[in-house]
Amino acid sequence: MLAMAHASTLVGLEALPVQVEVDIARGLPAFDLVGLPEASVRESRMRVRSALEQVGFPLPTRRVTVNLAPADVRKNGAGFDLAIAMATLAAAKESPEDLLRDWLLVGELSLTGALRPVRGVLAKVLCARKQGMRGAIVPSENAAEAAVVNGIEVRAAGTLAEVVAFFQGNFALPTAERVCDHSTDPAVIDLADVRGQHTARRALEISAAGSHNVLLMGPPGGGKTLLARTMPGILPPLSFDESVEVTSIYSVAGMLPNGVSLIERRPYRHPHHTASTVGIVGGGDPPRPGEIALAHHGVLFLDELPEFSRDALEALREPLEEGMVTIVRSRVRTTFPARFTMIGAMNPCPCGYQGDPSDKCECSDERVRRYRSKVSGPLMDRVDLFVHLPSSSAMVYSEAPDGPTSSDVRARVIAARDRQHARAENQNEPNGRLSPRSLRDVAALSSEAKALLSTAADRMGLSARAMTRVLRVARTIADLEEEQRVSMNHIAEAIGYRSFSGG
Ligand SMILES: Nc1ncnc2c1ncn2[C@@H]1O[C@H](COP(=O)(O)OP(=O)(O)O)[C@@H](O)[C@H]1O
Ligand SMILES: [Mg+2]
Repeated sequence: MLAMAHASTLVGLEALPVQVEVDIARGLPAFDLVGLPEASVRESRMRVRSALEQVGFPLPTRRVTVNLAPADVRKNGAGFDLAIAMATLAAAKESPEDLLRDWLLVGELSLTGALRPVRGVLAKVLCARKQGMRGAIVPSENAAEAAVVNGIEVRAAGTLAEVVAFFQGNFALPTAERVCDHSTDPAVIDLADVRGQHTARRALEISAAGSHNVLLMGPPGGGKTLLARTMPGILPPLSFDESVEVTSIYSVAGMLPNGVSLIERRPYRHPHHTASTVGIVGGGDPPRPGEIALAHHGVLFLDELPEFSRDALEALREPLEEGMVTIVRSRVRTTFPARFTMIGAMNPCPCGYQGDPSDKCECSDERVRRYRSKVSGPLMDRVDLFVHLPSSSAMVYSEAPDGPTSSDVRARVIAARDRQHARAENQNEPNGRLSPRSLRDVAALSSEAKALLSTAADRMGLSARAMTRVLRVARTIADLEEEQRVSMNHIAEAIGYRSFSGG
């Protein structure tokens, strides 16, 4: 009496197939689970035993052995319950065995037999499709995300009893339906509500248009946090492929809002500086994405940058360079994609008033140096736009709000991104991620622009890396201005955003 059902396990963002084999044999009554199960899977026995009793099929008083294959794949999470329960019923001849082979079964069981949602359902259904299965049965609460996958039948179930009835031919499980995400983020600030600070506003527009990293530096109360909070309102929408990638990260993190099929807005993450390194980088077992991966294709806003732990700041290097984040835990490496735009904000010195006309700052040069060194070096090398904000005192408040609204700016940002895509043909990288080589092709300079760049490079001691960043920013400025070529004006403006030390 052997029966088999299909399940799957998460490895990073991907799901791998797992076969659940159940054998019922003569012997002392037992319910054993073998095949490298982690602790969370072992608890499955208790839940499955109780849920089966609830639907009127108590475990047979025999020796029941459950094997999860292949043995060399780590299995974790509670998503195997449904497959174990159904394979057990099939082995006991309570449910037809042959039908089980066509379906992926996903879901955790409660002691009463209700089906609970699990993480990573999108990846699991994609895996079932890849294996050519007829369909997948998922918990009702995961139905919206599972419905995104085309070309496979996806059914939603609320309880084990419904699934049993479905396989006995007595009940039609409903087909999973897609749901649109119409939620809005109430915390978004409109650019039209920001007074003055034209340079900073311009820098954020450039950042959104080309995915360039920004550092806002200025005194407390200068509007740094306020400005960063305008970003969600000016970011371009996600493409469909980007949406699927972002959704699968939130699905694996267990953070997909209930009933949402696809995340359609660019992520905007703003972890507090007291957040743990695991919270920022990711971790746990199975590994969950942290803030860095949750910001994929969107913005990671780090307010009060020097207050973050050194470990957290250090962990930003890999993603800023490679566009991904690697988590190592008990010798297992997991990689998540993490191509985000970084927006950092900081005071210029510990008291915050260095360079302020009021002359209140009493920080010694040494203290200022030490404060800034927390974020200097590799992290600063990856900033494209340095913005020094004047204090928002009397000067700013005397100005009437005069800037464009977020929706005007967003329209320009979208047009600039469209120009980038049209140029890039098959590759879909924004200017901020172009390699020096592709940049040479798309940002050919006039001779005056070249001369200006080399003079500035000499005077400001720009490294080759910094010059690449100037070129990327200049390309985006030209795109915002709907210009084919990068001219001297574009280079001049881009160079203006280069200085970390200025006041
Ligand atoms: N340029 C500005 N336009 C409109 N309001 C501003 C501006 N700068 C500061 N404020 C107001 O002052 C408050 C403090 O600004 P905040 O963004 O928190 O400053 P920072 O982060 O630089 O310390 C904000 O709530 C905002 O209402
Ligand atoms: Mg602030």
